[in-house]
Amino acid sequence: MRCAGRFTMESKTVARASVFAGAVDVPGDKSISHRAVILGALSNRVCTVENFLVAEDCLRTMEAFRQMGISIDRQDRRLQIRGAGLEGLKAPKQPIDCGNSGTTTRLLMGVLTGQPFEVRLQGDASLSRRPMDRVIEPLSKMGAFFLDVQESPAHLPLRMVGTRNVKPLQWKSPVASAQVKSAILLAGLYASGPTEVSEPSLSRDHTERMLKASGVSVEREGTKVVVNGTATVRAHSFKVPGDLSSAAFLLAAGLLCGTGEVLVRGVGVNPTRPGFMDMVKAMGGICRFQSVTEWSGEPVADIVVKASKLTGATLSGESIPRAIDEVPILAVLATQARGQTVISDARELRVKESDRLKAVTQELTKMGARIIEKPDGLVIEGPTALKGAVVKSYGDHRLAMSLAVAALVAEGESVIEDVACVATSFPTFWNLLDQLRKTR
Ligand code: S3P
Repeated sequence: MRCAGRFTMESKTVARASVFAGAVDVPGDKSISHRAVILGALSNRVCTVENFLVAEDCLRTMEAFRQMGISIDRQDRRLQIRGAGLEGLKAPKQPIDCGNSGTTTRLLMGVLTGQPFEVRLQGDASLSRRPMDRVIEPLSKMGAFFLDVQESPAHLPLRMVGTRNVKPLQWKSPVASAQVKSAILLAGLYASGPTEVSEPSLSRDHTERMLKASGVSVEREGTKVVVNGTATVRAHSFKVPGDLSSAAFLLAAGLLCGTGEVLVRGVGVNPTRPGFMDMVKAMGGICRFQSVTEWSGEPVADIVVKASKLTGATLSGESIPRAIDEVPILAVLATQARGQTVISDARELRVKESDRLKAVTQELTKMGARIIEKPDGLVIEGPTALKGAVVKSYGDHRLAMSLAVAALVAEGESVIEDVACVATSFPTFWNLLDQLRKTR
């Protein structure tokens, strides 16, 4: 492997790329894959899921439902799920291990609010530092009991007991978080009336779309969503689009060091997601969507980019939730853009798989970037000639992949330490990177 000259369990050596072009597919969307398993398990019959993301995070969700008695047959990226209905889950015999996955944990807590049994939830070191009070508070009001919660802020491991008497809730979330919104909506399926969640700006809306596709009454009015308690989630088959959050790394490499077009096929372009593409356009990047279509109620397109001269731009406010997972890779783009890039209102980045504002600043600085960490964002001056360095991922998949892209434009070689985490969302990342480097 060209970008893995010296491969160990823990680190990758990545050299500057002289060629980067071609057409690839990326694995299925992480958010939609989690939700397809959850809704399949709660549905009333057999559901199929095509192009499921076979990566650690989504496999955690799959295993959690298997532990609760759901039969899920997986053949590569195709799942067949025997839904047991809203009241068909069984108490797991062992604790549920959510690994590194915040989505597994928070969405599961929503479902467990409607289950009259006790479950212990645990996770890895990173997940055990992440705040859970944002879901514990509303779900407690809906009737869930939380025990053994590690305080300030509340985090895993914890035990919870749900109820069949879920109370409807009107909740104003202080954060624009699809995980919080989805947890409450999923608990709301069990409630005796309408449950309402409003958020400061719109976060991804896959749960709403997928619930609707499964016959559940969900209405959105601006940034407020209302779900009605229901007796059934209709079995529905999902075809999962490619993950824009994974495609972003390859597209960024194409913008920075492309030697032709980079085309990523079949990517989900739900309007609550492409903040990365908007920012690329604002920076003057050459990019376009083509062959736009729809899979299971989600817009899908092929995305094409070309190497571009970028200029600094601003990302803030309501655009942040639409690019929440792409800030580290946008920071890499900004190091190569002329002028200043300012990212603000992004405090949420501090409670992701790592403190991404701190981690991205520290590691890109080692490569020679001019980047300043602010309490709620980043200020980056460009362009800078990056140089190869030994950098680390902090066990954060998106940081590892962002640093790999930075290494493609850096002089010499970079060693990225602690890269096993890439398997949480994008196990084929290194292969695709090599494939695009080898096109000519
Ligand atoms: C996700 C929502 C986002 C995102 C995460 C996946 C989801 O988190 O960062 O990778 O699937 O709902 P927040 O909604 O908490 O910002």
